[in-house]
Amino acid sequence: MSILRVENLTKTYPSAGQPLTVLHEVSFDLAAGDTFAIVGPSGSGKTTLLGLCAGLDRATSGSVWVNGIQLDKLSEDERAAVRNQHVGFIFQNFQLLPTLTALENVLVPLELRGQRGATQTALELLDRVGLAARANHYPAQLSGGEQQRVSLARAFANRPAVLFADEPTGNLDPDTSERVVNLLFELNREAGTTLVLVTHDLELAAKTQRTLRLRGGRVVEEILASAK
Ligand SMILES: Nc1ncnc2c1ncn2[C@@H]1O[C@H](COP(=O)(O)OP(=O)(O)OP(=O)(O)O)[C@@H](O)[C@H]1O
Ligand SMILES: [Mg+2]
Repeated sequence: MSILRVENLTKTYPSAGQPLTVLHEVSFDLAAGDTFAIVGPSGSGKTTLLGLCAGLDRATSGSVWVNGIQLDKLSEDERAAVRNQHVGFIFQNFQLLPTLTALENVLVPLELRGQRGATQTALELLDRVGLAARANHYPAQLSGGEQQRVSLARAFANRPAVLFADEPTGNLDPDTSERVVNLLFELNREAGTTLVLVTHDLELAAKTQRTLRLRGGRVVEEILASAK
C-alpha cells in the first residue's frame, strides 16, 4: 500500500510580472519503509515539494495522498490533524520553539495528541539522540547539531508513518552528521517509517533506495539503488 503518493504536483506563485511555477507535474509513489532522496540545485523546488507532501502548504494543481488520505480535499485544520497523526518533519532551519526547552519542544506533538506518559517518551527520545543531559536547555543554549537532534526527536515523537527531513545533515560536522544519519535509518528499520530526505550530500542520497533529481522544478531523473 502507498504511504505517500504524489500525482502531477504543480506549484505556481503569483508574482508582480509573470506567475512563477516552481514545481512542474511531479509524481512518485512510496510504500511503507521506503527510503527516498530528493536532490537538485538550490532553488530547484526541493523544500517546496517536501512542504506540499507534508501538508504544510497547498499545491496549485495535482494531488498528495498520505496513508491513503487525499490532502488537497482537506481544510487547514484537517491537514494539521493529518500532520500530527502521520507525519514528522525536520526543517532546514530546525524551527525549534525558542521559548521552550529541548524537552518541552519534543513534548509539543505528544501533548497535542494527548498522549499518556508523554514526558517519559520525550526523555527517552532525547536520550536516544544523545541529549539526555540537555533536556532543560533552551535552543539558544544548544549547538546547531544538538538543535538538529532535538528536531529529530520531536519529528519522531509520534512515530510517524512518514518522516520528512530537509537537509538533515546540512551544517553538521562529519561525526554528528553520521550519528544523525544512522538514527534516521535505524528509525526506518525499526519502525518501518518511510524516509523522505532532501539533501545536497550525495553520499547520504546513495544510502536510500531511490533518488529523485529536480532541476527548475521538474523531475529530470529518478535513480534506483540497484543502478547507484
Ligand atoms: N513564497 C514564495 N513566493 C515566490 N517564490 C517562492 C516562494 N517560496 C519559494 N519560492 C521560489 O521557489 C523556488 C524553489 O524554492 P525551494 O525553497 O523549494 O528550493 P530548494 O530546492 O529547497 O533550494 P535550497 O537547496 O536552496 O534549499 C525558488 O526559486 C524560490 O525562490
Ligand atoms: Mg530548500
